[in-house]
Amino acid sequence: MLMLEPQESLCVLCHSGPFPEIPFMGTLAPDLSDVGSRLSIDEIRARIIDNRAFNPDTIMPPFLSQEGLHQVGPRWAQTSILTEQEVEDIATFLASLNGDQP
Ligand code: HEC
Repeated sequence: MLMLEPQESLCVLCHSGPFPEIPFMGTLAPDLSDVGSRLSIDEIRARIIDNRAFNPDTIMPPFLSQEGLHQVGPRWAQTSILTEQEVEDIATFLASLNGDQP
């Protein structure tokens, strides 16, 4: 699952969750273990697309937006970090996390 590839999606550098395959997870961001019971899939998707809409000072990168970016490396200059389909897959996965996963 892309979300769990630290180099690809970066998510687990900041977030933790019920992901036994990840040995070290970040603690800079809310734990996602029960995010599906706190937020709807639309709310989750919107935060992945561009979390700046909810917190202008967020450290979470906008995964599907190129607006107003600065200090962008060449690899990212002309593209979003994730595709629409990838964002959709991750949102669906997160929406299923209700705190009951081991
Ligand atoms: C650089 C750190 C960082 C990365 C990388 C990151 N996030 Fe976040 N994320 C945050 C922070 C911090 C918050 C809390 C809101 C805020 O202050 O911006 C957050 C909030 C969220 C929320 C809302 C959680 C809640 O409980 O309200 C979701 C969902 C989320 N992130 C998903 C993701 C996904 C999926 C990825 C990877 C595609 C990702 N994040 C990558 C830092 C990060």
